[in-house]
Amino acid sequence: MIISVVNEKGGSGKTTIATNLAFKFAQEGIDLMLIDADPQRSIETLIDFRINNDLELPFNSMSKIGDSLAKEAKSLENKYDSIIIDTGGRDSKEMRQALIISDLVIIPTLASGYDQAVLNKMLTLVEECSLINTRLKALILINRASPNPFLEKKINDLKEYLNEKQIPQNIKIANTIIYEREIYKNVVFEGKSVVELEESNKAKKEIDMLYNELLSYCNNSD
Ligand SMILES: Nc1ncnc2c1ncn2[C@@H]1O[C@H](COP(=O)(O)OP(=O)(O)OP(=O)(O)O)[C@@H](O)[C@H]1O
Ligand SMILES: [Mg+2]
Repeated sequence: MIISVVNEKGGSGKTTIATNLAFKFAQEGIDLMLIDADPQRSIETLIDFRINNDLELPFNSMSKIGDSLAKEAKSLENKYDSIIIDTGGRDSKEMRQALIISDLVIIPTLASGYDQAVLNKMLTLVEECSLINTRLKALILINRASPNPFLEKKINDLKEYLNEKQIPQNIKIANTIIYEREIYKNVVFEGKSVVELEESNKAKKEIDMLYNELLSYCNNSD
């Protein structure tokens, strides 16, 4: 299975989601390759912190930018159980190639008006790519949510907006919500992920929930 994390909007949480999921997949015994398709190479930063802390990386990782991303990822598909691709925060050939070869695309987005405009563009792109890649499913993931009474309204507004747009069946809003939590930033400096924290940790629970949700979404063939 190939999973890509995309959103042209910078800072929406692509790398945070891609890396934490990679650790979660590894924890579940899945042989994973994490591909950094962002020229800014944020994943390398995390791995460097991890190496400096004498911690092992429980998955494989490589950087791949440019024209050959799709070809390279496809050639690795049979070697690994799953592949996760982190893309950069702009419209790029890597992002478009990732959409063409993925089974699932996760689109982390903030529940704000500015982000909604970019999300709109992303959804059009997913629809276009689905014409070629008919197995593509998309999961819109609300990230950096602030726990305030307006959040539910913002989420409902987003759902209503998507309903009005009549988004295709292969695109859905995740039930999992990732909240704004300092821990997502703090673990990076130790080269760690939130899934390595104690069971009761709220961020860990969010990533566990996302993992379960995306597996059942991918395995469900409707
Ligand atoms: N749920 C969260 N809670 C707190 N901080 C977060 C959360 N998600 C992401 N961040 C922080 O927000 C910043 C941007 O996140 P991240 O680098 O994952 O975004 P990105 O979409 O990969 O950015 P880019 O488009 O530049 O690649 C980082 O400092 C990250 O630690
Ligand atoms: Mg990034």
